[in-house]
Amino acid sequence: MKGVILAGGLGTRLFPLTKITNKHLLPVYDRPMIYYPIQTLVNAGVDDIMIVTGGRKSGDFLSLLGNGKDFGLKHLNYTYQEGEGGIAEALGLAEHWAAGAPLCVMLGDNLIERNIRQAVSDFKSQGHGAKILLKKVPDPQRFGVAHIEGDKVVEIVEKPKEPKSDNAVIGIYLYDERVWNIIHELEPSDRGELEITDVNNWYIRDGSMTFEVLEGWWTDAGTFESLHAASKLVAEGGANHLD
Ligand code: DAU
Repeated sequence: MKGVILAGGLGTRLFPLTKITNKHLLPVYDRPMIYYPIQTLVNAGVDDIMIVTGGRKSGDFLSLLGNGKDFGLKHLNYTYQEGEGGIAEALGLAEHWAAGAPLCVMLGDNLIERNIRQAVSDFKSQGHGAKILLKKVPDPQRFGVAHIEGDKVVEIVEKPKEPKSDNAVIGIYLYDERVWNIIHELEPSDRGELEITDVNNWYIRDGSMTFEVLEGWWTDAGTFESLHAASKLVAEGGANHLD
């Protein structure tokens, strides 16, 4: 399985912090933000990783991470997204490298307390389709929100004004090799982005999407409030616990 970490975009919600650097290089407690998703993938046994960077200081990823020695890696792959065309556009830039293998995608501004080993192993047994991870949150309107009937996700709505549930879709996605063709067919949303939620809804319509509920805390770090909360959570309890 290959892993792709998305760390492009312009981080405008964190201006002026992100005026001169990439959001994912900002500190979350004692480490740069990008360290957390890399550690999450490595802990799950996904050690063949590409980082999609972007923005003004993308070269700093190389200075910071090199070949991934801090994570026990021998090599890291990088690619570059121009502008902010959306999460699915950023993922599409990894096609030339990742095509043909199952894929674990993680957003560069997501942090989790524990690990995704079980979900990755369950997806390997599933063999095809996709898997998402859900977490109940008090503010679902900030996220993709999953509507569940029985044991199936029937729809995901991106940032609904009136959420039908409090199940946020966290920024970790498992896909089969069809994901690249799905991305090719996407149209930009009203906000001008290729949306990962449209990719996920394709798999739901196909009947091949499964979900699991993440254990332990999860947060994004893309707003002042969530960046602060992420630092506090890490300081108080650590992230990426192995069990
Ligand atoms: O955090 C989970 C949420 O992330 C999901 O619940 C939503 O369904 C999903 O759309 C996303 O929502 P956000 O609005 O919070 O995504 P944001 O634009 O902040 O992008 C998250 C990460 O994705 C960002 O840290 C880097 C990467 N990204 C994003 C964009 C728009 C890119 O690499 N390139 C991009 O063009």
